[in-house]
Amino acid sequence: MSTNITHRNPEFPFRHLLGIEGLHPPHINYLLDLADEAVEVSRQVEKQKAVLRGRTQINLFFEASTRTQSSFELAGKRLGADVMNMAVEVSSLKKGETLIDTAATLNAMRPDLLVVRHSQAGAVHLLARKVGCAVVNAGDGAHEHPTQALLDALTIRRHKQDIGGLNVAICGDIRHSRVARSNILLLSTIGARVRLVAPSTLLPSGAHNMGVEVFTDMREGLKGADVVMMLRLQKERMSGAFIPSVREYFKYHGLDAGKLSYAKPDALVMHPGPMNRGVEIAAEIADGPQSVIREQVEMGVAIRMAVLEALAANLPA
Ligand code: NCD
Repeated sequence: MSTNITHRNPEFPFRHLLGIEGLHPPHINYLLDLADEAVEVSRQVEKQKAVLRGRTQINLFFEASTRTQSSFELAGKRLGADVMNMAVEVSSLKKGETLIDTAATLNAMRPDLLVVRHSQAGAVHLLARKVGCAVVNAGDGAHEHPTQALLDALTIRRHKQDIGGLNVAICGDIRHSRVARSNILLLSTIGARVRLVAPSTLLPSGAHNMGVEVFTDMREGLKGADVVMMLRLQKERMSGAFIPSVREYFKYHGLDAGKLSYAKPDALVMHPGPMNRGVEIAAEIADGPQSVIREQVEMGVAIRMAVLEALAANLPA
């Protein structure tokens, strides 16, 4: 972590945002406060700030993504950066270029900010060591997805004021989820009580050592919850059979009105997207009055603006 420390911005003294791991409550609250301001900027007709003027941001996505990539693009543009999207799937990687070669090529283009998504845990950390610019992890394998956890926290805080003491149930395919991992780290750090709710085949191996409560029954897990966070069934990361059938999965682990009634009446329903309607969540719940799923998308742009702004303050002038 030592190479990640810098001293220009004392409130957020990091060169990169590689994960939630290593962040303390003041760093998290600093980003959430900045993001609250970014929401206001984004709701104006004139949506531009100049904090990244003259800076170059490259979005390097080794894995397909719509909402994360587009929200990083919008965030950079709203702060005045030149933003370029590099679609790696169709470029040199197919021709056998290694990650290190890619890093050297990127370095030669002199970006200031690099946003990276990769299917392998640790690939983003490796790149961060090889490039001269600030790196943001936009999702690495089943490891971390820090900006997703931050935007979830922002959404919760704007509804519930204080996250400390809230009961948050994270439900579904936790085993394959970087969103779950980053959320467990963030929510525990700022004092929420986290419960994991999943069939035992979809729980991560160390679930019982994560400082969380673990449930395999949805009704029990949702009892009295303030927030119900559903996760997508990540079929692309599964090998072998983790669930008997999609119908069975929905019956026992999909969020419908019956199961949601066990949570508090004002519980928030969340999902990072993309959703499998009728698999992990019923369509009428996804579109229902307790759902803040669309708001999460708006908060996604704001939190990415906050992260880019915080890291830019640490770039050499
Ligand atoms: C998540 C991801 O890619 O990890 N989605 C996202 O960032 N919008 C969750 C998922 O893929 O299920």
